[in-house]
Amino acid sequence: MSVLSGRRVLLGITGGIAAYKTVELVRLLVKAGAEVQVVLTDGASQFVTPMTLQALSGRPVRQALFDEAHEAAMGHIELARWAEIIVVAPASASFMARLANGFADNLLATLCLATAAPLCLAPAMNQQMWQNPATQQNVAVLRQRGVQLWGPATGDQACGEVGPGRMLEPDALLQQICAHFSSGLLAGARVLLTAGPTREPIDPVRFIGNRSSGKMGFALAKAFVAMGAKVDLVAGPVTLETPSGVERTDVETATEMEEAVLGRVTSCDIFVGCAAVADYRPEIVADQKIKKNSEQMAIHLVRNNDILATVAALPDGPFTVGFAAETQSPETYAEKKRIAKKIDMIAANLVGAQEGGFERDENALTLMWAGGQVVLPMADKGELAKQLVKLIAEHYENRHTIKNT
Ligand code: PMT
Repeated sequence: MSVLSGRRVLLGITGGIAAYKTVELVRLLVKAGAEVQVVLTDGASQFVTPMTLQALSGRPVRQALFDEAHEAAMGHIELARWAEIIVVAPASASFMARLANGFADNLLATLCLATAAPLCLAPAMNQQMWQNPATQQNVAVLRQRGVQLWGPATGDQACGEVGPGRMLEPDALLQQICAHFSSGLLAGARVLLTAGPTREPIDPVRFIGNRSSGKMGFALAKAFVAMGAKVDLVAGPVTLETPSGVERTDVETATEMEEAVLGRVTSCDIFVGCAAVADYRPEIVADQKIKKNSEQMAIHLVRNNDILATVAALPDGPFTVGFAAETQSPETYAEKKRIAKKIDMIAANLVGAQEGGFERDENALTLMWAGGQVVLPMADKGELAKQLVKLIAEHYENRHTIKNT
Protein backbone atom coordinates (compact mmCIF):
# COMPACT_ATOMS: atom_id res chain seq x y z
CA MET A 1 0.00 0.00 0.00
CA SER A 2 1.30 3.50 -0.83
CA VAL A 3 2.28 5.83 2.00
CA LEU A 4 -0.20 8.32 0.48
CA SER A 5 -3.15 5.96 0.54
CA GLY A 6 -6.16 7.86 1.94
CA ARG A 7 -4.07 10.94 2.84
CA ARG A 8 -5.90 14.27 2.44
CA VAL A 9 -3.82 16.67 0.40
CA LEU A 10 -5.03 20.20 -0.24
CA LEU A 11 -3.22 21.37 -3.34
CA GLY A 12 -3.21 25.12 -3.92
CA ILE A 13 -2.28 26.49 -7.34
CA THR A 14 -1.35 30.14 -7.83
CA GLY A 15 -0.79 32.12 -11.02
CA GLY A 16 2.33 31.10 -12.90
CA ILE A 17 3.28 29.18 -16.01
CA ALA A 18 4.50 26.25 -13.85
CA ALA A 19 0.81 25.63 -13.00
CA TYR A 20 0.65 23.29 -15.99
CA LYS A 21 3.07 20.93 -14.19
CA THR A 22 0.76 20.79 -11.17
CA VAL A 23 -1.82 19.07 -13.35
CA GLU A 24 0.60 16.12 -13.53
CA LEU A 25 1.19 16.30 -9.76
CA VAL A 26 -2.59 15.89 -9.22
CA ARG A 27 -2.52 12.80 -11.43
CA LEU A 28 0.46 11.32 -9.55
CA LEU A 29 -1.09 11.99 -6.14
CA VAL A 30 -4.40 10.40 -7.10
CA LYS A 31 -2.55 7.42 -8.61
CA ALA A 32 -0.69 7.03 -5.29
CA GLY A 33 -4.04 6.83 -3.48
CA ALA A 34 -4.25 10.36 -2.00
CA GLU A 35 -7.48 12.33 -1.73
CA VAL A 36 -6.75 15.60 -3.50
CA GLN A 37 -8.69 18.83 -3.11
CA VAL A 38 -7.54 21.48 -5.57
CA VAL A 39 -7.90 25.17 -4.72
CA LEU A 40 -7.16 27.67 -7.48
CA THR A 41 -6.46 31.38 -7.22
CA ASP A 42 -7.88 33.63 -9.95
CA GLY A 43 -4.36 33.98 -11.36
CA ALA A 44 -3.97 30.20 -11.60
CA SER A 45 -7.18 29.87 -13.60
CA GLN A 46 -5.49 31.92 -16.36
CA PHE A 47 -3.07 29.01 -16.81
CA VAL A 48 -5.04 25.83 -16.01
CA THR A 49 -8.76 25.10 -16.09
CA PRO A 50 -10.91 23.92 -13.17
CA MET A 51 -12.44 21.35 -15.54
CA THR A 52 -9.11 19.54 -16.12
CA LEU A 53 -8.24 19.54 -12.41
CA GLN A 54 -11.71 18.38 -11.41
CA ALA A 55 -11.52 15.51 -13.89
CA LEU A 56 -8.13 14.40 -12.54
CA SER A 57 -8.81 14.88 -8.82
CA GLY A 58 -12.39 13.60 -8.92
CA ARG A 59 -13.50 16.56 -6.76
CA PRO A 60 -14.97 19.95 -7.63
CA VAL A 61 -12.21 22.56 -7.67
CA ARG A 62 -12.63 25.39 -5.13
CA GLN A 63 -11.83 28.95 -6.13
CA ALA A 64 -14.10 31.60 -4.62
CA LEU A 65 -13.90 32.74 -1.00
CA PHE A 66 -17.48 33.95 -1.01
CA ASP A 67 -19.08 30.88 -2.52
CA GLU A 68 -22.73 30.59 -1.42
CA ALA A 69 -22.90 26.84 -1.99
CA HIS A 70 -20.06 26.15 0.44
CA GLU A 71 -19.90 29.15 2.75
CA ALA A 72 -23.35 28.56 4.26
CA ALA A 73 -21.56 25.81 6.24
CA MET A 74 -18.33 27.82 6.80
CA GLY A 75 -16.80 25.89 3.91
CA HIS A 76 -13.34 27.40 4.09
CA ILE A 77 -12.88 26.48 7.76
CA GLU A 78 -14.08 22.96 7.04
CA LEU A 79 -11.60 22.69 4.21
CA ALA A 80 -8.79 24.06 6.40
CA ARG A 81 -9.58 21.35 8.96
CA TRP A 82 -9.96 18.62 6.32
CA ALA A 83 -6.40 19.01 4.99
CA GLU A 84 -3.62 16.87 6.45
CA ILE A 85 -1.14 18.92 4.46
CA ILE A 86 -1.42 22.03 2.28
CA VAL A 87 0.93 22.16 -0.68
CA VAL A 88 1.01 25.30 -2.84
CA ALA A 89 2.57 24.61 -6.23
CA PRO A 90 3.47 26.85 -7.89
CA ALA A 91 3.74 29.43 -5.13
CA SER A 92 4.12 32.82 -6.84
CA ALA A 93 6.10 35.76 -5.40
CA SER A 94 2.87 37.60 -4.84
CA PHE A 95 1.23 34.69 -3.01
CA MET A 96 4.25 34.32 -0.71
CA ALA A 97 4.11 38.06 0.04
CA ARG A 98 0.42 37.66 0.92
CA LEU A 99 1.19 34.77 3.26
CA ALA A 100 4.15 36.51 4.90
CA ASN A 101 1.88 39.45 5.68
CA GLY A 102 -1.08 37.38 6.84
CA PHE A 103 -3.59 38.51 4.20
CA ALA A 104 -6.84 36.55 3.89
CA ASP A 105 -8.13 38.11 0.70
CA ASN A 106 -8.63 34.97 -1.39
CA LEU A 107 -9.71 31.42 -0.59
CA LEU A 108 -6.23 29.86 -0.70
CA ALA A 109 -4.57 32.51 1.47
CA THR A 110 -7.46 32.25 3.94
CA LEU A 111 -7.09 28.47 4.13
CA CYS A 112 -3.36 28.82 4.78
CA LEU A 113 -4.13 31.14 7.71
CA ALA A 114 -6.97 29.02 9.06
CA THR A 115 -5.29 25.62 8.96
CA ALA A 116 -3.34 23.72 11.59
CA ALA A 117 -1.92 21.44 8.87
CA PRO A 118 1.73 21.73 7.74
CA LEU A 119 2.14 24.24 4.93
CA CYS A 120 4.58 23.52 2.09
CA LEU A 121 5.38 25.83 -0.80
CA ALA A 122 6.96 25.04 -4.16
CA PRO A 123 8.05 28.50 -5.33
CA ALA A 124 8.18 29.31 -9.05
CA MET A 125 9.04 32.68 -10.52
CA ASN A 126 11.54 34.64 -12.59
CA GLN A 127 15.04 34.39 -11.12
CA GLN A 128 15.29 38.16 -10.47
CA MET A 129 11.98 38.06 -8.63
CA TRP A 130 13.24 35.15 -6.50
CA GLN A 131 16.49 36.95 -5.68
CA ASN A 132 14.79 40.27 -4.97
CA PRO A 133 15.34 41.25 -1.30
CA ALA A 134 11.57 41.62 -0.83
CA THR A 135 10.98 37.99 -1.84
CA GLN A 136 13.96 36.77 0.18
CA GLN A 137 12.67 38.60 3.24
CA ASN A 138 9.24 36.97 2.79
CA VAL A 139 10.94 33.57 2.40
CA ALA A 140 12.87 34.12 5.64
CA VAL A 141 9.69 35.12 7.51
CA LEU A 142 7.79 32.09 6.21
CA ARG A 143 10.63 29.69 7.06
CA GLN A 144 10.86 31.14 10.53
CA ARG A 145 7.15 30.37 10.99
CA GLY A 146 7.73 26.74 10.07
CA VAL A 147 6.52 26.89 6.48
CA GLN A 148 8.48 24.37 4.38
CA LEU A 149 9.95 25.50 1.07
CA TRP A 150 10.51 22.81 -1.55
CA GLY A 151 12.82 24.31 -4.16
CA PRO A 152 13.03 26.31 -6.26
CA ALA A 153 15.38 24.53 -8.67
CA THR A 154 17.92 26.36 -10.80
CA GLY A 155 17.90 26.17 -14.59
CA ASP A 156 16.23 27.43 -17.79
CA GLN A 157 13.13 29.50 -17.19
CA ALA A 158 10.01 29.97 -19.29
CA CYS A 159 10.94 33.67 -19.66
CA GLY A 160 14.22 32.70 -21.35
CA GLU A 161 16.44 33.51 -18.36
CA VAL A 162 18.56 31.05 -16.41
CA GLY A 163 18.78 30.92 -12.62
CA PRO A 164 16.95 29.95 -9.43
CA GLY A 165 13.15 30.02 -9.65
CA ARG A 166 12.03 26.84 -11.46
CA MET A 167 9.32 24.85 -9.71
CA LEU A 168 10.44 21.35 -8.71
CA GLU A 169 9.24 18.66 -11.10
CA PRO A 170 5.99 16.85 -10.19
CA ASP A 171 7.88 13.66 -9.41
CA ALA A 172 10.16 15.47 -6.96
CA LEU A 173 7.17 17.13 -5.29
CA LEU A 174 5.49 13.74 -4.98
CA GLN A 175 8.64 12.42 -3.25
CA GLN A 176 8.53 15.32 -0.81
CA ILE A 177 4.90 14.66 0.03
CA CYS A 178 5.61 10.92 0.45
CA ALA A 179 8.58 11.71 2.70
CA HIS A 180 6.34 13.99 4.77
CA PHE A 181 3.85 11.19 5.40
CA SER A 182 6.42 8.48 5.72
CA SER A 183 6.08 7.26 9.25
CA GLY A 184 8.28 4.41 8.00
CA LEU A 185 11.05 2.80 9.93
CA LEU A 186 13.53 5.37 8.65
CA ALA A 187 11.73 8.57 9.63
CA GLY A 188 14.47 10.81 11.02
CA ALA A 189 17.31 8.34 10.33
CA ARG A 190 20.51 9.78 8.81
CA VAL A 191 21.88 7.86 5.87
CA LEU A 192 25.32 8.29 4.28
CA LEU A 193 25.57 6.78 0.84
CA THR A 194 28.30 6.51 -1.81
CA ALA A 195 27.49 6.15 -5.51
CA GLY A 196 29.11 6.13 -8.92
CA PRO A 197 32.69 5.40 -9.97
CA THR A 198 35.99 6.90 -8.84
CA ARG A 199 38.70 8.16 -11.19
CA GLU A 200 42.35 7.62 -10.36
CA PRO A 201 44.53 10.02 -12.37
CA ILE A 202 47.54 8.76 -14.33
CA ASP A 203 48.46 12.15 -15.77
CA PRO A 204 46.50 15.41 -16.35
CA VAL A 205 44.43 13.83 -19.16
CA ARG A 206 44.10 10.11 -18.29
CA PHE A 207 42.65 8.13 -15.45
CA ILE A 208 41.76 4.61 -14.30
CA GLY A 209 37.99 4.36 -13.98
CA ASN A 210 35.10 1.92 -14.23
CA ARG A 211 31.65 1.62 -15.78
CA SER A 212 29.50 2.68 -12.82
CA SER A 213 26.90 5.26 -13.89
CA GLY A 214 25.64 6.02 -10.38
CA LYS A 215 22.08 4.94 -11.32
CA MET A 216 21.81 2.29 -8.58
CA GLY A 217 23.17 4.59 -5.85
CA PHE A 218 21.05 7.58 -6.89
CA ALA A 219 17.93 5.36 -6.97
CA LEU A 220 18.79 4.28 -3.41
CA ALA A 221 19.19 7.91 -2.32
CA LYS A 222 15.71 8.67 -3.68
CA ALA A 223 14.20 5.61 -1.99
CA PHE A 224 15.78 6.50 1.37
CA VAL A 225 14.31 10.03 1.17
CA ALA A 226 10.88 8.56 0.40
CA MET A 227 11.20 6.46 3.59
CA GLY A 228 11.73 9.62 5.63
CA ALA A 229 15.54 9.44 5.98
CA LYS A 230 17.90 12.40 5.76
CA VAL A 231 20.35 11.48 3.01
CA ASP A 232 23.98 12.56 2.48
CA LEU A 233 25.21 11.35 -0.90
CA VAL A 234 28.91 11.24 -1.78
CA ALA A 235 29.04 10.84 -5.54
CA GLY A 236 31.86 10.04 -7.93
CA PRO A 237 31.86 11.66 -11.38
CA VAL A 238 28.39 10.99 -12.86
CA THR A 239 25.96 12.98 -14.97
CA LEU A 240 22.84 12.37 -12.88
CA GLU A 241 20.62 15.01 -11.29
CA THR A 242 20.57 15.15 -7.50
CA PRO A 243 17.38 13.53 -6.18
CA SER A 244 15.16 15.98 -4.36
CA GLY A 245 15.86 16.31 -0.64
CA VAL A 246 19.37 14.82 -0.92
CA GLU A 247 22.54 16.60 0.25
CA ARG A 248 25.21 15.82 -2.38
CA THR A 249 29.01 16.05 -2.28
CA ASP A 250 30.92 15.42 -5.50
CA VAL A 251 34.32 13.75 -5.44
CA GLU A 252 36.64 12.26 -8.04
CA THR A 253 39.18 9.87 -6.51
CA ALA A 254 38.87 7.08 -3.93
CA THR A 255 40.97 9.14 -1.52
CA GLU A 256 38.58 12.10 -1.88
CA MET A 257 35.62 9.77 -1.39
CA GLU A 258 37.22 8.35 1.75
CA GLU A 259 37.81 11.87 3.14
CA ALA A 260 34.24 12.93 2.35
CA VAL A 261 32.81 9.79 3.99
CA LEU A 262 34.99 9.97 7.11
CA GLY A 263 34.12 13.66 7.51
CA ARG A 264 30.41 12.80 7.65
CA VAL A 265 30.19 9.32 9.11
CA THR A 266 30.09 10.18 12.81
CA SER A 267 26.65 11.74 12.42
CA CYS A 268 25.06 8.92 10.40
CA ASP A 269 22.94 5.94 11.44
CA ILE A 270 23.26 3.90 8.25
CA PHE A 271 26.16 3.77 5.77
CA VAL A 272 25.66 2.26 2.32
CA GLY A 273 28.65 1.76 0.00
CA CYS A 274 27.20 1.53 -3.48
CA ALA A 275 30.11 3.29 -5.20
CA ALA A 276 32.46 1.31 -7.39
CA VAL A 277 35.62 2.48 -5.62
CA ALA A 278 38.95 1.81 -7.32
CA ASP A 279 40.96 -0.73 -5.35
CA TYR A 280 44.25 0.70 -6.66
CA ARG A 281 45.61 4.07 -7.82
CA PRO A 282 48.80 4.99 -9.70
CA GLU A 283 51.57 5.54 -7.20
CA ILE A 284 52.90 8.50 -9.17
CA VAL A 285 50.67 10.91 -11.09
CA ALA A 286 52.64 12.51 -13.95
CA ASP A 287 52.63 16.33 -13.96
CA GLN A 288 52.46 16.44 -17.75
CA LYS A 289 50.79 14.24 -20.37
CA ILE A 290 52.83 11.03 -20.74
CA LYS A 291 54.40 10.71 -24.23
CA LYS A 292 54.40 7.45 -26.18
CA ASN A 293 58.19 7.15 -26.31
CA SER A 294 58.54 3.39 -25.76
CA GLU A 295 56.85 0.18 -26.99
CA GLN A 296 55.76 -0.78 -23.51
CA MET A 297 55.08 1.05 -20.31
CA ALA A 298 54.10 0.01 -16.80
CA ILE A 299 52.10 1.93 -14.23
CA HIS A 300 52.86 1.02 -10.67
CA LEU A 301 49.69 0.89 -8.58
CA VAL A 302 49.20 1.14 -4.81
CA ARG A 303 46.18 -0.02 -2.77
CA ASN A 304 43.45 2.43 -1.82
CA ASN A 305 42.02 2.16 1.68
CA ASP A 306 38.80 0.20 1.87
CA ILE A 307 36.20 2.83 2.83
CA LEU A 308 33.49 0.33 3.72
CA ALA A 309 35.75 -1.75 5.99
CA THR A 310 37.06 1.42 7.65
CA VAL A 311 33.51 2.58 8.42
CA ALA A 312 32.51 -0.87 9.70
CA ALA A 313 35.51 -0.91 12.06
CA LEU A 314 34.62 2.41 13.72
CA PRO A 315 33.77 2.07 17.41
CA ASP A 316 30.01 2.54 17.77
CA GLY A 317 29.81 2.92 13.97
CA PRO A 318 26.68 3.00 11.81
CA PHE A 319 24.71 0.06 10.42
CA THR A 320 26.79 -0.79 7.33
CA VAL A 321 25.63 -2.13 3.97
CA GLY A 322 28.01 -2.92 1.13
CA PHE A 323 27.67 -4.04 -2.46
CA ALA A 324 29.65 -6.70 -4.26
CA ALA A 325 30.05 -6.40 -8.03
CA GLU A 326 31.14 -9.77 -9.42
CA THR A 327 31.49 -11.32 -12.87
CA GLN A 328 30.99 -14.85 -11.50
CA SER A 329 29.54 -16.60 -8.40
CA PRO A 330 28.29 -13.29 -6.92
CA GLU A 331 26.82 -14.79 -3.72
CA THR A 332 30.00 -16.76 -2.87
CA TYR A 333 32.30 -13.75 -3.26
CA ALA A 334 29.83 -11.38 -1.62
CA GLU A 335 29.59 -13.56 1.49
CA LYS A 336 33.40 -13.57 1.75
CA LYS A 337 33.41 -9.76 1.51
CA ARG A 338 30.63 -9.42 4.09
CA ILE A 339 32.62 -11.47 6.59
CA ALA A 340 36.04 -9.97 5.78
CA LYS A 341 34.78 -6.37 5.98
CA LYS A 342 32.62 -7.11 9.06
CA ILE A 343 29.56 -5.38 7.63
CA ASP A 344 25.89 -5.94 8.51
CA MET A 345 24.56 -6.63 5.02
CA ILE A 346 25.83 -6.97 1.46
CA ALA A 347 24.01 -6.74 -1.86
CA ALA A 348 25.55 -9.01 -4.49
CA ASN A 349 25.14 -8.26 -8.17
CA LEU A 350 26.43 -9.71 -11.41
CA VAL A 351 28.26 -7.23 -13.63
CA GLY A 352 29.43 -7.59 -17.22
CA ALA A 353 26.49 -9.88 -18.13
CA GLN A 354 23.77 -9.42 -20.76
CA GLU A 355 21.39 -7.79 -18.27
CA GLY A 356 21.71 -5.67 -15.13
CA GLY A 357 24.84 -4.42 -13.37
CA PHE A 358 26.71 -1.34 -14.54
CA GLU A 359 25.09 1.44 -16.58
CA ARG A 360 21.78 -0.32 -17.29
CA ASP A 361 18.40 0.83 -15.97
CA GLU A 362 17.65 -2.62 -14.49
CA ASN A 363 19.49 -4.78 -12.00
CA ALA A 364 19.06 -7.90 -9.85
CA LEU A 365 20.47 -8.31 -6.34
CA THR A 366 20.90 -10.90 -3.62
CA LEU A 367 20.85 -9.21 -0.24
CA MET A 368 22.78 -11.20 2.36
CA TRP A 369 23.27 -10.96 6.11
CA ALA A 370 24.48 -13.30 8.88
CA GLY A 371 22.12 -16.24 8.69
CA GLY A 372 19.91 -15.17 5.80
CA GLN A 373 19.51 -13.87 2.30
CA VAL A 374 16.81 -12.73 -0.10
CA VAL A 375 16.85 -12.62 -3.89
CA LEU A 376 15.52 -9.46 -5.54
CA PRO A 377 14.92 -10.39 -9.18
CA MET A 378 15.69 -8.24 -12.24
CA ALA A 379 13.73 -4.97 -12.02
CA ASP A 380 14.05 -1.28 -12.74
CA LYS A 381 16.74 0.17 -10.42
CA GLY A 382 14.16 2.57 -8.90
CA GLU A 383 11.87 -0.32 -7.99
CA LEU A 384 14.76 -2.45 -6.77
CA ALA A 385 16.03 0.39 -4.59
CA LYS A 386 12.63 0.65 -2.87
CA GLN A 387 12.68 -3.09 -2.04
CA LEU A 388 16.28 -2.93 -0.85
CA VAL A 389 15.71 0.12 1.36
CA LYS A 390 12.67 -1.52 2.95
CA LEU A 391 14.77 -4.59 3.84
CA ILE A 392 17.66 -2.46 5.13
CA ALA A 393 15.18 -0.48 7.25
CA GLU A 394 13.75 -3.66 8.79
CA HIS A 395 17.19 -5.06 9.67
CA TYR A 396 18.43 -1.69 10.94
CA GLU A 397 15.36 -1.41 13.15
CA ASN A 398 15.93 -4.92 14.55
CA ARG A 399 19.55 -4.18 15.42
CA HIS A 400 18.46 -0.92 16.99
CA THR A 401 15.83 -2.62 19.10
CA ILE A 402 18.25 -5.34 20.23
CA LYS A 403 20.93 -2.69 21.07
CA ASN A 404 18.48 -0.68 23.16
CA THR A 405 16.95 -3.57 25.15
O1 PMT B 1 26.32 2.70 -10.88
P1 PMT B 1 25.54 1.73 -11.75
O2 PMT B 1 25.93 1.83 -13.20
O3 PMT B 1 24.05 1.84 -11.51
O4 PMT B 1 25.96 0.25 -11.31
C1 PMT B 1 25.67 -0.22 -10.04
C2 PMT B 1 26.86 -0.99 -9.42
C3 PMT B 1 27.11 -2.26 -10.21
C4 PMT B 1 28.11 -0.12 -9.41
C5 PMT B 1 26.45 -1.32 -7.91
O5 PMT B 1 25.30 -2.11 -7.90
C6 PMT B 1 27.59 -2.02 -7.19
O6 PMT B 1 27.77 -3.22 -7.25
N1 PMT B 1 28.41 -1.23 -6.45
C7 PMT B 1 29.65 -1.73 -5.77
C8 PMT B 1 30.76 -1.88 -6.77
C9 PMT B 1 32.06 -2.36 -6.16
O7 PMT B 1 32.99 -1.62 -6.09
O8 PMT B 1 32.02 -3.57 -5.70
P2 PMT B 1 33.33 -4.31 -5.03
O9 PMT B 1 32.91 -5.71 -4.94
O10 PMT B 1 34.57 -3.97 -5.77
O11 PMT B 1 33.44 -3.64 -3.61
C10 PMT B 1 32.80 -4.18 -2.44
C11 PMT B 1 32.34 -3.07 -1.54
O12 PMT B 1 33.45 -2.39 -0.99
C12 PMT B 1 31.49 -2.02 -2.20
O13 PMT B 1 30.45 -1.66 -1.29
C13 PMT B 1 32.42 -0.85 -2.41
O14 PMT B 1 31.75 0.41 -2.35
C14 PMT B 1 33.37 -1.01 -1.22
N2 PMT B 1 34.75 -0.51 -1.44
C15 PMT B 1 35.56 -1.08 -2.36
C16 PMT B 1 36.85 -0.63 -2.50
C17 PMT B 1 37.31 0.42 -1.67
N3 PMT B 1 38.55 0.91 -1.77
N4 PMT B 1 36.48 0.97 -0.77
C18 PMT B 1 35.22 0.50 -0.63
O15 PMT B 1 34.47 1.02 0.21
